[in-house]
Amino acid sequence: STKKTILSGIQPSGRLHLGNYFGAIRQHLEFQEKGDAFYFIANYHSLTSLQDGKKLHDYTLDVALDYLALGMDPEKCTFFAQSDVPQVLELSWILGTLTPVSLMEKGVSYKDKIAQGLQPNIGLFTYPVLQAADILIYGSDIVPVGADQKQNIEISRDLAARFNHVYGGEYLRIPEPYIVESVATVPGVDGRKMSKSYDNTIEIFDSGKALKKKVMSVVTDSKALEEPKDPDSCNVFALIKLFADEQKIREVRENYLSGGYGYGHAKKELLALVSDYFKEARDARHELAKDPDTVRDMLREGGRKARVRAESVMEPVREVAGI
Ligand code: ADP
Ligand code: NA
Repeated sequence: STKKTILSGIQPSGRLHLGNYFGAIRQHLEFQEKGDAFYFIANYHSLTSLQDGKKLHDYTLDVALDYLALGMDPEKCTFFAQSDVPQVLELSWILGTLTPVSLMEKGVSYKDKIAQGLQPNIGLFTYPVLQAADILIYGSDIVPVGADQKQNIEISRDLAARFNHVYGGEYLRIPEPYIVESVATVPGVDGRKMSKSYDNTIEIFDSGKALKKKVMSVVTDSKALEEPKDPDSCNVFALIKLFADEQKIREVRENYLSGGYGYGHAKKELLALVSDYFKEARDARHELAKDPDTVRDMLREGGRKARVRAESVMEPVREVAGI
C-alpha cells in the first residue's frame, strides 16, 4: 500500500493517567486514521524491570482493555503484543552484532534508569537495539515520539543504515521521528509533572469516590474564597483547560479573576469535566473486561498480521546475512 507505516510501542506498566492520555494516547488514536499504524504492547521491554509473570500478564491485558476502550480500533490499525512477533528478537540479535558498545554507553535513557535505581541488566543496556528492531521490522516510515525519545530513534536510523551499508542494499527502511508537540506537560495533583513515579496521578479510569478524592487533593495556594485568583498559575485550571471547551474555559477564567469563586468550586468543575469526558470509555472498558478472551483473540489476530509484515522484512535480511 502507499500509506505510510506508523509505529509506536505502549508500555504495559500499570494504570494509565491523564498525562499519558494527553501526551500520548490521544495522538495514537489520531494516527490510526492517518496511515498504516502498528501499535504493540511492549512486554519484552517491560521484562527489563518487571520480573513477575502474573503482573506482566495482567498489565498486558489491562493496557489492551484501556486502549480498546479509549478508541483503538483493530479494524483501523494492527494492535498486538510484542512477543507475538518472535522475529523481532531475531532482528534484534542481528542488529546487536552491528552495534558498538560505545553507542549503548552513550544512551541517556539507560543512565536515567540506573540513576532511578533500576538494576543495570543487559536487557536494559541493549534496550535501544530491541527498540530499533521493533521499528525496523515493520518497515516503519514514521515513529511518533516525545522529544525525550529522539536519541533512540537516531539509534534505529543508525543501525538500519549500518545494516544496509554492511550488506550492500536497501534492506531496512530508515524511519523518521515525528516529534509530537507536547501538550503543555500535564501537572499531577502535587503540581509536579504527572507521573507514576511521583505517585501524583489522576487515572483515566478512576471514577466515583476515588476520582473525587484525587481531584480534591490537587494542590492550590491558600487564597480565600472571595479573593481574585490567578488562573494561569493554578494546577486545577491547567487541568480544566485540557477538558473544557473554549467557552467553558473563558467562563472559569473570569470566575477566577473576579473572586467569589473558590478552589472548591473549580475542583467540582474539574471533577464533572473529567468524569464526563471518559464516561463512554469507562462504560466500554467495563463491557470489554467481561470478556477477556475476546480481547486476547483480538491481540492474537493483530499478532498474526504483524508477523506477516515482519516476515516479509526478515526473509531478505536472513538471506543476505547468511542465516
Ligand atoms: P510515567 O511518567 O507515568 O511513567 P510514561 O513515561 O510511561 O509515564 O509515559 C508514557 C507516555 O505518556 C509518554 O509518551 C509521555 O510523554 C506521556 N506522558 C507521561 N506523563 C505525561 C505528562 N505529565 N504530561 C504529558 N505527557 C505525559
Ligand atoms: Na516518564
